[in-house]
Amino acid sequence: MQITIIYATTEGQTRRIARRIQQRIAAAGHAVELLPAEAALESEPALGGAAAAILAGSVHAGRYQPDLVTLAAREAAALDAIPNLFVSVSLAAAGDDPEDREGLADCVDRFRTETGWAPARVEHVAGAFRFTEYNWFTTWAMRYIQSQKDPTTRRGKDAEYTDWAALDALVDDWLSGL
Ligand SMILES: Cc1cc2nc3c(=O)[nH]c(=O)nc-3n(C[C@H](O)[C@H](O)[C@H](O)COP(=O)(O)O)c2cc1C
Repeated sequence: MQITIIYATTEGQTRRIARRIQQRIAAAGHAVELLPAEAALESEPALGGAAAAILAGSVHAGRYQPDLVTLAAREAAALDAIPNLFVSVSLAAAGDDPEDREGLADCVDRFRTETGWAPARVEHVAGAFRFTEYNWFTTWAMRYIQSQKDPTTRRGKDAEYTDWAALDALVDDWLSGL
C-alpha cells in the first residue's frame, strides 16, 4: 500500500514524530512517502495517488502551522476519499488536565473549520520543550510554562514527552484498520 505522510514543524519535534511513523509503516511492508507541508504545497496533487494519508502538525498558541492548514484545505476532498489520520503534537497532550484537553479539542475543531477537512481519526501526541530552538522571548515564555506544568524538569532545559512506544502502537493500530 502507498501511504503519504505530510507534516509541519516549528521546532523539529513533529519531524521526529513523522519520521518515526514513516519507519514504522515501512517496517510493516508499505511504501511510504514523507513530505514537509511546504514541499507538498509545491506539488499538485500532493497526495500523488496515495491509498492512505497522515497529516501531522504542532500546536503553537492554539493553531497549527499555516502551511499545513493551506495544504489540508487544498487537499480536503482527496483526503476525505481515502483512510486518513491527523496527528496533533502539543504539550497539552503530555498531561491529563481536562481544561488542556478541551483546549486541544478546540484547536482541532478550528482546524476542521478552517480547512474543510474532517479527519477520519485524530490522535494527540505529546511533544517537547526545545529551548535550543527558541528565541529570547519564547525562551522566557516557555520557561514560565515549564515551571507551571512540569516543575520536576530543570528550567530552561530541553525535555521530551513523546511516548515512542505508544506512538508505534498507535501506528500499528491505524494500519490494522486499513
Ligand atoms: C511559542 C509556543 C507556543 C506553544 N503553544 C502551545 C499551545 O497553545 N498548546 C500546547 O499544548 N502546546 C503549545 N506549545 C508546545 C508545542 O506544541 C510543543 O513544543 C511541540 O513539541 C512543538 O512541536 P514542533 O517542534 O514540531 O513545532 C507551544 C510551543 C511554543 C514554542
